[in-house]
Amino acid sequence: MQLFYAPLSAAVFLATTLAAPIPIRRACDEGIGGSTVITPEQLLQISSSMAACDPSSATASECRTAEQASPFVNEGFSTYNITTKGEKAAILSLMLFESGNFKFDINHFPGEPGQGTRNLMKFPGVYQYAVDTPETSAQALALVPDLNDPNNSNSTKNEVRALVLPDKLSFASGMWFYKASGPEKTGCTGDQAIVDGLQGETVEGWTAYIERCISTTVTPDRKEVWEKTLAAL
Ligand SMILES: *[C@@H]1O[C@H](CO)[C@@H](O)[C@H](O)[C@H]1NC(C)=O
Ligand SMILES: *[C@@H]1O[C@H](CO)[C@@H](O)[C@H](O)[C@H]1NC(C)=O
Ligand SMILES: *[C@@H]1O[C@H](CO)[C@@H](O)[C@H](O)[C@H]1NC(C)=O
Repeated sequence: MQLFYAPLSAAVFLATTLAAPIPIRRACDEGIGGSTVITPEQLLQISSSMAACDPSSATASECRTAEQASPFVNEGFSTYNITTKGEKAAILSLMLFESGNFKFDINHFPGEPGQGTRNLMKFPGVYQYAVDTPETSAQALALVPDLNDPNNSNSTKNEVRALVLPDKLSFASGMWFYKASGPEKTGCTGDQAIVDGLQGETVEGWTAYIERCISTTVTPDRKEVWEKTLAAL
């Protein structure tokens, strides 16, 4: 599976920010239509492939079952104060789509340096996430003091990625991206139309999230995962 997060360039975030019709939404404004925790059974309804991990698979060490993944998924939503079913479904379905239903957490094809976590963010996003996360921030800054330094090697990018691969962080990166990424630290929520559309569980809202914030394209298989996820939650 191929994942294409646009780099978290200033341009992307500027575009997102400029598109926002209403000022920044605060975390404490959340809570409309709040849903309960996501259970392993719900994950299995989305894809029964999460019942078990194949120990002979090349990515066996990266694979997590529904049972193993669900506590970390819920922790991620809790950490970033994401409470509505519509927002959860969009983010969870992105993670499932990008990680092959939690079968892997780094980019294997073609092996893009630094790309990973459960939403398979590309390197600038992974770096920003590591810098923003208190427990990995100092190490990330020590490894890469300057993001624009051409001397930043592929192996250094992979070392930064390794900081955020523990389950607690790897399963929360999609939530961070939605809620706290970018120069304004508002992620996708700087665009009120995305927030309203996801909370309203509309195709238009989800399309705006995928196109304007994740900067990728809607495909039938991506949409099918979103629909299954929304139905399961
Ligand atoms: C989540 O809400 C708590 C309590 O209101 C707050 O302290 C915290 O900063 C919020 N976190 C995010 C990422 O918005
Ligand atoms: C770093 O990764 C890029 C992208 O995969 C690749 O084109 C390049 O050859 C790699 N550089 C080195 C020194 O291996
Ligand atoms: C990159 O490495 C070279 C050789 O070590 C060094 O001379 C140069 O200053 C470095 N570039 C940056 C931007 O740090």
